[in-house]
Amino acid sequence: MKTVLVTGGAGFIGSHTCVELLNEGYDLVVVDNLCNSDACALDRVQEISGRTLDFVRADIRDSAALNDIFSRYSINAVVHFAGLKAVGESVAEPLKYFDNNVNGTVVLLQAMQRHEVFNIVFSSSATVYGDPASLPIKEDFPLAAVNPYGRTKLIIEQILFDLGKSDSRWQSVLLRYFNPVGAHPSGLIGEDPNDIPNNLMPFIAQVAIGRLQELSIYGGDYATPDGTGVRDYIHVVDLAKGHLAALSHIVQTPGTVAYNLGTGQGYSVLEMVKAFAAAADKPVPYKIVARRPGDAAQCYADPALAAEKLGWRAELGLERMMEDTWRWQSQNPQGYRQ
Ligand code: NAD
Ligand code: UFG
Repeated sequence: MKTVLVTGGAGFIGSHTCVELLNEGYDLVVVDNLCNSDACALDRVQEISGRTLDFVRADIRDSAALNDIFSRYSINAVVHFAGLKAVGESVAEPLKYFDNNVNGTVVLLQAMQRHEVFNIVFSSSATVYGDPASLPIKEDFPLAAVNPYGRTKLIIEQILFDLGKSDSRWQSVLLRYFNPVGAHPSGLIGEDPNDIPNNLMPFIAQVAIGRLQELSIYGGDYATPDGTGVRDYIHVVDLAKGHLAALSHIVQTPGTVAYNLGTGQGYSVLEMVKAFAAAADKPVPYKIVARRPGDAAQCYADPALAAEKLGWRAELGLERMMEDTWRWQSQNPQGYRQ
């Protein structure tokens, strides 16, 4: 398991995972088309870790480019982050999502099969649980997609289950992420959305730095303690370490297995706003508006299976999530585009 191909390694979660993989001694090849990221993130990954990685700017749907990578490097495993992730865009442009995420993964898996690389860790999402009937969410809960983005994750999961059944050499770990937030403690890498953020944490951070005026809180009348939505926010460094655990586990466990990566603890939007304002020592102006269609009231993981089987659990609490997000945002007010 020495050499790992990281698809989408220049992105938010990918860049943090590259740091942890390099620190652990893995050699890395990153493939990314930079459609939602900046190559500068990879320079910073190398700065933080004091190690180098090889970067190939290519699209995972480019079969020839992938063949070239698998021919040139002796890849042992793939950690597959590359994908589009904006829920609203996926509703407006479903074909873009099916092509990029599903077709992209099929092209990647074909290249892997051709070169006899059968180990993959896949970035799935809590979105595959749809609107869960009860909480906390366990891995054996029924799966459902509520939008095209979620459907791409579900289809890719099913492809990996089918592959595992077809050939026992395939070993896949599906990591179902809850809500990744935070940034590396160096403040050198973090989340840098291209447009106005869809997600809560980067939105709050951009309000605090003055790039956005005010947060709109989507709904104050949910059946939650303070009426605002509750989510399982997980520090991206903890999440990144979950991939190390998955890679060690993959060698021991044939077949396809899914794990929740979450903390098991839910926080409301108002709790997040308050905690961020305290960490940044800045007010975060907000107003409560109508609910966002498709949002669940609450969503949080049962992380017990990952603890038992992977020996992994999240360690960083809310305060660190906020401090690290603020360090990244205040040191890089315009993200990577300085
Ligand atoms: P991100 O957009 O920051 O990173 C994705 C990376 O993939 C980007 O660098 C992008 O340029 C690259 N990419 C996209 N399509 C590509 C293609 N066809 N070929 C090559 N590169 C391509 O997103 P992220 O937050 O780091 O998410 C990583 C993965 O985790 C995604 O698959 C996402 O769906 C999944 N995920 C993210 C969240 C979240 O809230 N951030 C939650 C659950 C799951
Ligand atoms: N929220 C606001 N205002 C905003 C943005 C979000 O009030 O401007 C609220 C939402 O209503 C929700 C909470 O903040 O209650 C979190 O919202 P996010 O958009 O940050 O995250 P979601 O839980 O809606 O979804 C995210 C990803 C999905 C993924 C899911 C589970 O966007 O792709 O986590 O992993 F599927």
